[in-house]
Amino acid sequence: MPKVMLPDVLRDDNARNRASDAGSLTNPLEGQRCLVTGGAGFIGSHIVDLLIDAGCSEIIVIDNMIRGRHANLERALTSGRVRLIEGDIRDTTLMRGLVQGTDTVFHQAALRITQCAQEPRTAFEVMVTATYDLIEECVRADVRKMVVASSASVYGMAQDFPTTENQNPYDNRTLYGAAKAFGEGMLRSFNDMHGLDYVTLRYFNVYGPRMDIHGRYTEVLVRWMDRLATGQAPVIFGDGLQTMDMIQVKDVARANILAAISPASDVALNVGSGEETSLLELAHLLARIMGQPGTQLIFQEARSVNPVPRRLADTTAAREAIGFEAAIPLADGMADLVEWWREQRETTGLGAIG
Ligand SMILES: NC(=O)c1ccc[n+]([C@@H]2O[C@H](COP(=O)([O-])OP(=O)(O)OC[C@H]3O[C@@H](n4cnc5c(N)ncnc54)[C@H](O)[C@@H]3O)[C@@H](O)[C@H]2O)c1
Repeated sequence: MPKVMLPDVLRDDNARNRASDAGSLTNPLEGQRCLVTGGAGFIGSHIVDLLIDAGCSEIIVIDNMIRGRHANLERALTSGRVRLIEGDIRDTTLMRGLVQGTDTVFHQAALRITQCAQEPRTAFEVMVTATYDLIEECVRADVRKMVVASSASVYGMAQDFPTTENQNPYDNRTLYGAAKAFGEGMLRSFNDMHGLDYVTLRYFNVYGPRMDIHGRYTEVLVRWMDRLATGQAPVIFGDGLQTMDMIQVKDVARANILAAISPASDVALNVGSGEETSLLELAHLLARIMGQPGTQLIFQEARSVNPVPRRLADTTAAREAIGFEAAIPLADGMADLVEWWREQRETTGLGAIG
């Protein structure tokens, strides 16, 4: 029987049992070097935090800081085990050096869906070419495993709900979704050709502390918090009946660690809560958490790069393959987001744009 050395993140009975059912009793990350692309960003920085808890000896972050922020890694950098390289994943020489000697690669760097639509060629270079180059380097360097961020966008407007991983990708109409689907296909082909071990995670609607509140591509939740804080009604584009499968970023980071330590490979898994929330419900919940339960909502004509009216993940495969289940209820996860956002407003003065 192998010695049980699970990271702190799994030291609760349920998580340990699920991980054990999925076959991962040891912690292969302990004492290892990991690389996190896009690791100064929203999700990547939470993965870095958990890799510290998991006992990695060295965590290299590569981020060109177009959306990444030093503040996201503030605590992680004090561990002395995290190194931030401000560089571009399109720099093949740099990437070759970073991948060399690495045990596990977490590939998070990507452009937002909106930016992909505005700058398709850049999107192709970052999301397709650089991902191809990274996969090739991982094979060359004999990396133990890649854990790669995919997206529910590969489904486009799904036909079946809850949506399983077997849903076809042909209803996606975005370059972003196409690039993610192609990334999954590339990984599978490299598994076939070279035995590369990988797991891709199809994140659904991720929210939580460190969401972008500064840039051009802020999320609807951030714009609602800005308005609610100044006594204005949140604006909803469309009728508000559009649904999402909301998952808190700390759960998403935990799914990455489980994917890395489990024996699962050559598989794409949904990472969602398995619960459907409409924009209306979300706006009312946020208003309640921010102390304005009776607030009116303003409705405007829908305008979106990806007008998908419904999202709901079937979460069975992730539970069976890597022992992952979302654990943070929406109300708790949103309260965590609001608390962080208020701290940001106080310390940086940002977010107060009315
Ligand atoms: N946030 C979500 O709801 C969501 C949903 C589905 C999938 N995803 C995927 O999850 C991953 C992480 O997303 P996120 O929400 O943390 O976004 P993010 O923008 O916060 O993180 C991406 C990071 O990649 C960096 N980056 C971009 N291009 C780069 C380049 N050429 N070289 C180096 N670094 C580069 C950015 O600076 C940023 O820090 C992405 O692959 C994204 O497509 C996110």
